[in-house]
Amino acid sequence: MQTAEIRRRFLEHFAQRDHTVVPSASLVSPDPSLLFTVAGMVPFIPYLTGREPAPFPRATSVQKCVRTLDIEEVGKTTRHGTFFQMNGNFSFGDYFKEGAIQYAWELITGKLEDGGLGFDPDTIWATVYLDDDEGADAWHRIAGLPKERIQRLGKKDNYWHTGAPGPAGPCSEIYIDRGAEYGPDGGPAVDTAGDRFLEIWNLVFMQYEIDEVRSKEEFRVLGELPKKNIDTGMGLERVAYLLQGVDNMYEIDEVSPVLRRAAELAGVTYGRDHDTDVRLRVVADHVRSGLMLIGDGVTPGNEGGGYILRRLLRRAVRSMKLLGVDEATLPELLPVSRDAMSASYPELATDFGRISAVAYAEEEAFRRTLSAGTTLFDTAVKQAKASGTPTLSGDQAFSLHDTYGFPIDVTLEMAAEQGVTVDEEGFRALMKEQRERARADARAKRTGSVDVLAYRRLLAEHGPTDWQAYDTLRTDSRVLALVPEEEGGAEVTGPGEIVRVVLDRTPFYAESGGQVADAGVLTWDGGRAEVIDVQRPVKGLVAHQVRVLEGELRPGAELTAEVDYEWRLSACQAHSGTHVLHAALRQVLGPQALQSGSYNRPGYLRLDFAWQGALTPQQRTDIEDVANAAVRADHRVTASYMTLPEAQAFGALALFGETYGEQVRVVEIGGPWSRELCGGTHVRGSAQIGTLALTGESSVGSGARRVEAVVGLEGFRYLARERDLVRQLADLLKSPSDNLVERVSGMLARLRDVDKELAELRAQQSVAAAGQLAAAAKDVAGVAVVTGSPSGLAGGDLRTLALDVRGRLPGDRPAVVLLASETGGKVALVAALNPAALERGLSANDVLRAAAAPVGGRGGGKADVAQGGGTDPAGIPAALQAGEQAVATATGR
Ligand code: ALA
Repeated sequence: MQTAEIRRRFLEHFAQRDHTVVPSASLVSPDPSLLFTVAGMVPFIPYLTGREPAPFPRATSVQKCVRTLDIEEVGKTTRHGTFFQMNGNFSFGDYFKEGAIQYAWELITGKLEDGGLGFDPDTIWATVYLDDDEGADAWHRIAGLPKERIQRLGKKDNYWHTGAPGPAGPCSEIYIDRGAEYGPDGGPAVDTAGDRFLEIWNLVFMQYEIDEVRSKEEFRVLGELPKKNIDTGMGLERVAYLLQGVDNMYEIDEVSPVLRRAAELAGVTYGRDHDTDVRLRVVADHVRSGLMLIGDGVTPGNEGGGYILRRLLRRAVRSMKLLGVDEATLPELLPVSRDAMSASYPELATDFGRISAVAYAEEEAFRRTLSAGTTLFDTAVKQAKASGTPTLSGDQAFSLHDTYGFPIDVTLEMAAEQGVTVDEEGFRALMKEQRERARADARAKRTGSVDVLAYRRLLAEHGPTDWQAYDTLRTDSRVLALVPEEEGGAEVTGPGEIVRVVLDRTPFYAESGGQVADAGVLTWDGGRAEVIDVQRPVKGLVAHQVRVLEGELRPGAELTAEVDYEWRLSACQAHSGTHVLHAALRQVLGPQALQSGSYNRPGYLRLDFAWQGALTPQQRTDIEDVANAAVRADHRVTASYMTLPEAQAFGALALFGETYGEQVRVVEIGGPWSRELCGGTHVRGSAQIGTLALTGESSVGSGARRVEAVVGLEGFRYLARERDLVRQLADLLKSPSDNLVERVSGMLARLRDVDKELAELRAQQSVAAAGQLAAAAKDVAGVAVVTGSPSGLAGGDLRTLALDVRGRLPGDRPAVVLLASETGGKVALVAALNPAALERGLSANDVLRAAAAPVGGRGGGKADVAQGGGTDPAGIPAALQAGEQAVATATGR
């Protein structure tokens, strides 16, 4: 049965049982505590925890997931994939254990002709959590499973959470017995390798909320969730491999075409050699994961999700290299993966221009890196071997990673090939440090040093902040709580102190979606505070970081919250300007120029987008023109609410990480001219943007560019500064401004002529000097030695002169030329030897090293020509003498 058919049957089964079919959310997790969507339940976390009302009591989905914790296992087992699809059914306080077990049983044992999956009931086993009598009983009663095929396991297997604070609960897993040829009998409890008894479906009884998650088994249970929920996850790939009669998930219809193409490119046959097979499977898995991640807007980078993508792509490329393929391989493999996946995800085909550009650029970058980093790697290996303990230090591995983008597995693999080990622990410690720094920075920004729990409690107690940022700049509000900056800090706050304030109602925009927080003031009877920052530490709750200017601020105080009007207007100009620029980019460059990130603050904006190579001056001008034409047209800017599928049908650009919520907000500028999902604040008409001037364009990693612009008053100021600059230049050059370019080109042309003349003069001088120097050669033990100190020649010129002198000395006798020259307080040194001198066992390096010491310098080069420098011109005579002495010593005199 095709994978697409299994997915169809699953959704159909649950749709028939009153479940709302929900499309897959992005792989980029909507939940900020997770990097990627790791399970089908991730988009539903707010409904499972009860923070948001569930828009439907039951749902079903096939969710794209990425998990890279087990990346080392990929290809070695039958079932570990970094990308996989999770079929799930969910109940938000509706049915519970019995319903979940019944629905699952009906689907897996249902006959093929009735839309089921047709598994033989006799091959099915189930596990439940240690004390879950209810679950065990339901399996026996509802499914008729004999008691000996219901086993009880501990937290490691039968308790599920995402690995981050949130909902959790005991679970029940469904296993298929693949038969005696795959291992001993005894059920999942004894088959720890998981080869014979394959887990295909996990039913989680979501009842608790947890935090302080340290591992699978260590966490703190905060309490019960408001409702008992069901979250299930069936591994689509696992079911596919069982139903397709193949041996593992890499051989199913959606993955194997890549594996076969990779084998073809490498000229190997799959199924003959274990190591080769593992590599081919790694390639097939990682190429697909790369495709899906880029499809969801991830671009390769050095942190977070970008790094994971980079690691996957680089591991795939490196594996192909180890299989003996030296050419670029993604252009061969990615289209194959696209063809295998686009039946389920048609956007992979329509978006392939952008996706492939990002992937191919990453492969190119890695190929370059591999040659540069390999030099560093080789040196490190040589040192390690020489030191007697052949281990690369954590530092070295880290710098390979940080500077050259070598994923640690690449370093490990390369080291193993050289018979060298790597201090992985040291490496991981350094990585952890780096990550923790980044995390602490991000967290400190959102919540201060206070635990997010404090805000959760406030939210539970008072409900969400009445947020009026779209409607007004001023509200009458009440202080619900003061959250001190430090744990245990003071609650009442006086002048000069900084504190976070939670209000019942606020007009302040909290930083999000690339837009910075509003500035403004809080005023109350006898006091005033300025708002420094506004964040949403937990969804639904706004916290204002303020500095008290006058009076005392207390919980319960009534006050006026007022956003700075000028600030907000400029912020709106910048955010609307970002949308206008995005639309203009896509009009000029094409729809693949899709935004991957943005930032805007009053007057300024920047936007990162998918694109190869620098923009041409013409493209920049065109983009600016299209944007400013839209500003002049004074398009109406409107916001409306709809469901995500509606918004997509409407053509709104859903940038990545959008969650499937009840309603999304679509901001339009001139109707279809620009339609984006956005929660930011905007001007009312595009003419309010004033002007948009591009100020810069640069690369932000391979396949991604950044444009920067200023808008509104800042835009005019920027243009005025440019005009002033032109005026100053015109004054300086005494030329009307429209002649400036001609004037400066004329000057540059003259400068070039003068440079050329100068070079000719120098050459003539040096020819004369060369003749004189050669004529003054001395004989040192049968070697013609020329030493000299012409003045004012930098390294390159001095070298030319030395070679010239060497050429004038008779070739049949050993000859050594040593020159030193002072330029600008520094000393340049060159030593040059002819072949006869080399034969006598002399070396330019030795001569140069001897000469370098007296001028306080060093240098090196090849045996026939060496170059160096020093800092002490007074030592030049001594240097020449030392060089001569070195010749004498080397010839044995
Ligand atoms: N969320 C559960 C899992 O991922 C179903 O296994």
